[in-house]
Amino acid sequence: MNMTSQVLNFPALVDQRGTLIALEATREIPFQIRRVYFIKDLKGDAPRGFHAHKNLKQVVICLSGSFRLILDDGYKRDSIVMNEGSQGVLIEEMIWREMHDFTDDCLILVIASEFYTEDDYIRDYQSFKDARKLMAK
Ligand code: TYD
Repeated sequence: MNMTSQVLNFPALVDQRGTLIALEATREIPFQIRRVYFIKDLKGDAPRGFHAHKNLKQVVICLSGSFRLILDDGYKRDSIVMNEGSQGVLIEEMIWREMHDFTDDCLILVIASEFYTEDDYIRDYQSFKDARKLMAK
């Protein structure tokens, strides 16, 4: 655990047929789920994200392949290699995130606490830093 995120280890139901992982709202996922989206057909040289959310929590799961998740609270920057489908990273409000270095087989699942609204995004890094400084006062 660090300041920018929390790693969630999901219970895996494993038998000779394979692995099943179940995610329930307020249990494995520590909020009420309002939206799920997945990102696929990614390009290694086409990073994504580059924003923070004002009022939204997310759990990011790399279901296949790998990528690098950068998380930044305005003071500290962490880089996490995502390559394990039984682990999620909980990103709370007001954390800048970037996604880099996708493998060709990368498949990312994102579980979010709110419906999509562009008003919730901060897409400019300096505005994010300034908002973070105000929060600390
Ligand atoms: P974008 O925020 O650029 O994706 P990323 O964070 O991976 O860089 O989103 C891509 C497009 O999809 C953009 O036009 C907004 C839209 N979008 C939705 O309509 N609904 C959603 O739930 C999300 C996450 C994005």
